Amino acid sequence: MVARRRTRKAAALAAAAVMMIGGVTGCAKKDTGGTTASGVALVKSGVLTTCTHLPYAPFQSKDQTGKVVGFDVALIDLVATKLGVTQAIVDTPFEGIKSGSDLNSGKCDVAAAGMTITDERKKVLDFSEPYFDATQALSVVTGHEVKTLEELKGKRLGVQGGTTGEEYINAQVKEKNLGITVVSYKDLAAVQQALSTNQIAAAVGDLPVWNEYVKANPGKIVVAAGFNTGEQYGFAVKKGNAELQKAINEAIAAARTDGTYDKLYSTWIGEKPAS
Ligand code: ARG
Repeated sequence: MVARRRTRKAAALAAAAVMMIGGVTGCAKKDTGGTTASGVALVKSGVLTTCTHLPYAPFQSKDQTGKVVGFDVALIDLVATKLGVTQAIVDTPFEGIKSGSDLNSGKCDVAAAGMTITDERKKVLDFSEPYFDATQALSVVTGHEVKTLEELKGKRLGVQGGTTGEEYINAQVKEKNLGITVVSYKDLAAVQQALSTNQIAAAVGDLPVWNEYVKANPGKIVVAAGFNTGEQYGFAVKKGNAELQKAINEAIAAARTDGTYDKLYSTWIGEKPAS
């Protein structure tokens, strides 16, 4: 068994070495991308590669089988279908997604991460048309309910680092001199864990995501207040990738017209607010 494993490992190493040499000489089997029939360039041929930062249910998270599913995933699947390819998802920190560096370095074709369209991000990314309206939520442990930020004076409040929720809270704390210690976590799971174990008195983040967490953990966490930040999510492509941006916009528009958008909305998010 051991010998066989070694042999296999050696073979894999040899293959990797060949690929590396091939890469240098230019005769590699290495995937240098491809172009779909409709003229959209992709970083890997035959797949639409999506960058996201897990977990972010109900937009993207792993199901029991480890497959990444969610509202964003379903919408980008529509884009992939339109392009005649399949979607492959890469889980990577939000910082690299929102800064444009993952798209610029060719890690992925599109970013779908429950990401809010902001003027700052528009400088480094090209966004699709908005596909979702979001606001911020203040979440607390059941029984420790506070309704306002003012009540959190002297306490710790958690946010996901690099997000609009973090920005909003930092601005509020400064502007209103709230005396709250804002603690930034690297991903949503870490914020939720910190709140559930009382390391922070409250958390602020996107409302639909906290609603989902409350649903999954009934009786433990409650959304105590909301802040209407008027945010809108967009999918992002590398600056100047007008072909893919157009394909995404067309797929979303078609889904809105043929009822697919509403169906996916009720599957993943729930009842649609009257608009
Ligand atoms: N909507 C927020 C923002 O754009 C949070 C997004 C976090 N997304 C994620 N997949 N973790 O800043």
